[in-house]
Amino acid sequence: MTVLVETALGEANLFHRGKVRDTYDLGDRLLMVATDRISAFDVVLPNGIPDKGRVLTQLSAFWFDLTSDVVPSHFLHLIDGTEVEGVPFSIPPELIGRSMLIRKAKRLDVECVARGYLAGSGWVEYQDSGKVCGIPLPSGLRESDELPEPIFTPATKAESGHDINISFEEVVDLVGERTASVLRARTLAVYGFARDYARERGVIIADTKFEFGWLNDELIVIDEVLTPDSSRFWPADGYQPGQAQPSFDKQFVRDWLISIGWNREPPPPVLPDDVVEGTAAKYREAFHRITGQELLVP
Ligand SMILES: Nc1ncnc2c1ncn2[C@@H]1O[C@H](COP(=O)(O)OP(=O)(O)O)[C@@H](O)[C@H]1O
Ligand SMILES: [Mg+2]
Repeated sequence: MTVLVETALGEANLFHRGKVRDTYDLGDRLLMVATDRISAFDVVLPNGIPDKGRVLTQLSAFWFDLTSDVVPSHFLHLIDGTEVEGVPFSIPPELIGRSMLIRKAKRLDVECVARGYLAGSGWVEYQDSGKVCGIPLPSGLRESDELPEPIFTPATKAESGHDINISFEEVVDLVGERTASVLRARTLAVYGFARDYARERGVIIADTKFEFGWLNDELIVIDEVLTPDSSRFWPADGYQPGQAQPSFDKQFVRDWLISIGWNREPPPPVLPDDVVEGTAAKYREAFHRITGQELLVP
């Protein structure tokens, strides 16, 4: 099983190399390539996870198609091996199924998070103050409980390190009232749609993060959407509020890293094969459950 942890498209200009994705500049478009890199506790691990990049890209493409009437996005085309217009070089075979052509937008530096369930930093904040991002919630909620209705819990997009939860008013200060309202409405609209869709297929999307950008005068969804990397996916069978839920994808990795007592500082340890394979199986399962489709693996 081959993995791709690095891309080098000599002919193209690198636009951004992130923890997981390498993005190339094509003028008014970008070629976004999801590698098989995986991070845990904010550190990129030395192993790649087979097919992870394909799952991220093809799941995002699936959702962009499905939600195109709910919200406009940057998505143009999945690189699936057929001829694409607008790429001025030939795309190497290992990038097929893991890359997409997108419209370049001017990113807003707000992480637009929707939460339907109480977990992660939301759960921490709630225990402290009874609120999440300034939104008061009913008392007596347990960890992983479903919220009465989904909430918009934005965060600042920190260049490095952890994002910081902010209130809606702080988003207004950053981008203005009108834009903040559109961000909130679109975030909740897409989340609500996807949550219902996934729930019927045995996956709880507990929360998810969107990024938005300006394309001319329009606010569009950019980046990846509704993937295991940008969301908390829980298997619906086995859902048990009152405790932390096993995450669909990274649980093996996190459990193993904790079991060996890694201090969460680089350099990270090399994952054993069974942890890699178990994690790969989870990513593939998330894709199959949600889309009902076969993953395109050239
Ligand atoms: N359509 C777009 N236009 C401009 N920038 C985008 C677009 N889609 C995604 N991006 C940016 O490209 C980068 C994707 O790389 P990623 O691997 O997610 O990096 P990171 O580790 O910084 O999150 C992010 O900085 C994201 O904001
Ligand atoms: Mg990112």
